[in-house]
Amino acid sequence: MSRIVYVNGDFVPEEAAKVSIFDRGFLFADGVYEVTPILHGKLIENAGHMARLERSMRELQMPPPCPVEEIAALMKELVARNDVYEGMVYVQVTRGAADRDFAFPEDATPTLVMFTQERKIEDTDSSRLGIRVISTPDWRWARRDIKTVQLLAPSLMKMRAKAAGAHDAWMVQDGFVTEGTSNNAYIVTKDGTIVTRHLSTEILHGITRASVLRLAAEAQMKVEERPFTIAEAQEAAEAFMTAASAFVTPVVEIDGVTLGDGKPGPVARRLREIYIATALEHAD
Ligand code: PDD
Repeated sequence: MSRIVYVNGDFVPEEAAKVSIFDRGFLFADGVYEVTPILHGKLIENAGHMARLERSMRELQMPPPCPVEEIAALMKELVARNDVYEGMVYVQVTRGAADRDFAFPEDATPTLVMFTQERKIEDTDSSRLGIRVISTPDWRWARRDIKTVQLLAPSLMKMRAKAAGAHDAWMVQDGFVTEGTSNNAYIVTKDGTIVTRHLSTEILHGITRASVLRLAAEAQMKVEERPFTIAEAQEAAEAFMTAASAFVTPVVEIDGVTLGDGKPGPVARRLREIYIATALEHAD
């Protein structure tokens, strides 16, 4: 049976979904998106994802297609229609279709599309064994706090990682790690302090990041929000990354240097456990 997707008011089989070739998402990457995880058939942290979607649209002066509460209800309906137990739901809003012009159109109707992906996210090789990352330059634009669909730079960096036999890339700007290609980056120092880059326009303000830092503080773990270098990361006791699609995933190797004994560290393992348990309690 083919997947049911949502496009501009309709639930249709994926083969039947259509968007104009003049859509500004297609021509200018003039679009924003969110990825919300699904566990046990329920949405995880969707209120946070909807708040960020609203903010992304506002920052780009993009008129919303409808209130985000309605988008959230449509997401739940899509998950139910596709009977997804574990995976993600992807939501994209663009400024809509208009004759090609750099200036924003005055009267375009925003495009809203959604689809689900069935995929294991709770018990994965990456979470059990940890991942290897390489460092790459950060080629992205200056407003990485807005979750836009212009993902070519991280895509290229992910391909560099694959070519190097690694799983992902940690991007570096002015000597300091910004974040992973699609996740926030952390190290744990030898004295047990969790270090992750502070919030600014240089990184995406991860929904998982916010919850993980809150849970870490509640568990009496020490957290420092500041930039760190690849050299400091290679000396760290452990490292990990967070994302809606990965929760907390240990990092066991950075640019060929093994961290500790090369196995996922206790801090990353504990945070993953606490994060999933708490997220499931509040899932809807
Ligand atoms: N990516 N940083 C970047 C650049 C990201 O693309 C993402 C998420 C994150 C983590 O944010 P969150 O915890 O809210 O998922 C950080 C999603 C999963 C994606 O593009 O598929």
